[in-house]
Amino acid sequence: MIMTARETSGTRTHLTVMPATGRNLEGPRLMQMNAIRATLAAALLTLAAPFTLARAEGETIKIGAVLPLTGGIAAFGMESKDGIELAVEEINAAGGVLGKKVEVLVEDDKGDPADTTNAVSKLINTDKVVALLGSVASSCTLAGAPVANSAKVPMVTHNSTNDKVTQVGEFIFRTCFIDSFQGATSAYVAAKIIKAKTAALITDVNSDYSKGLGEAFVAKFKELGGTITSEVSYQQNDVNFSSQLTKLKGTPADVVFIPGYYTEVALILKQAKQLKIGSVFLGADGWDDPKLLELAAEAADGTYIVTHYSPDQKSPEVEKLLKAYQAKFKRDPAVTDALAYDSMYVIADALKRAGKVDSLALRDALAATKDLKGATGTITINKERNADKAAIVLKVEGGKMKFVESVKP
Ligand code: PHE
Repeated sequence: MIMTARETSGTRTHLTVMPATGRNLEGPRLMQMNAIRATLAAALLTLAAPFTLARAEGETIKIGAVLPLTGGIAAFGMESKDGIELAVEEINAAGGVLGKKVEVLVEDDKGDPADTTNAVSKLINTDKVVALLGSVASSCTLAGAPVANSAKVPMVTHNSTNDKVTQVGEFIFRTCFIDSFQGATSAYVAAKIIKAKTAALITDVNSDYSKGLGEAFVAKFKELGGTITSEVSYQQNDVNFSSQLTKLKGTPADVVFIPGYYTEVALILKQAKQLKIGSVFLGADGWDDPKLLELAAEAADGTYIVTHYSPDQKSPEVEKLLKAYQAKFKRDPAVTDALAYDSMYVIADALKRAGKVDSLALRDALAATKDLKGATGTITINKERNADKAAIVLKVEGGKMKFVESVKP
């Protein structure tokens, strides 16, 4: 069952969004149409049996994308989808890859690890994609990666930062830095920029991202001479943080580090402001979305964010992306837009060097990615299949995220 997201007369954008396996989001009419289509397709397949090889080779190169299009981190998923769509459009307009057009099949994992596992299996086994892009939350990518790795289909995540993600195996890559670096950078911001001597943490206990980032922060902050005053926790979808914040108020810290995602973080910041907690709040890439500013409003002012990208760090690639986003989406790209856009180019570049549409050849080519210039920096895949890129420090002032400095690994 395939629903084409954007199909204008004659021009297909080669981005297909599919409803999650086993469910029909389109109602009876489409179900009926699909039944007819399926019968027709089966009939055609029988007729065209001798040509299945040619068909499998196809006119398009199929890539699967697993993204949270709904749920608490949906903004990240929707932005990723836009970034991929723009990159695919540009790549195809420039002639495609290896003489073929690229087609991306998008599955919604809702930010839920179990859905990621299912989506990855479906894209590999049913849709026969040559590579996968995604997911966003580290817990999701960690759940999908073993499936891709044992099927020997390369999976490239644009922003899952937990250290363990690429340790799953030889077929798992990422185009961003990892949390030991992001956590250490956050600790540097706390100790050196904010000049904090004490820090408290609010961690999401069910998130691999949150736990790993929190641990990396604590280790580096202590190394820099700081003291951790308290650590409290929450779970995704929590809405009331008063008990945690009251506890933090009892043991005041110079900095409160929250390795979480924008939906909960926005609520925490608002409630902390109500409780008049005077600490400086600090977060990482999970905060970096226009949604945070929208949801937290002035409660976000004065906070610091460690992330992957800032439009203020001008480069020809950033200028090009800003222009293209205004033209196509009438908005500026957020960090996940930029990371997803770059990652699509990383896959296209590797496919070209692989010289054929083959997952094994593509894996080797991805591993050899070197000096690819993107909007989020220059991408070289290292021996651990990660990208060593600089981290960007932002400060929220007057409802805007402002560039503070860039920190090299
Ligand atoms: N780094 C986050 C994770 O691993 C995901 C993320 C990255 C979200 C960048 C937003 C922006 O879970």
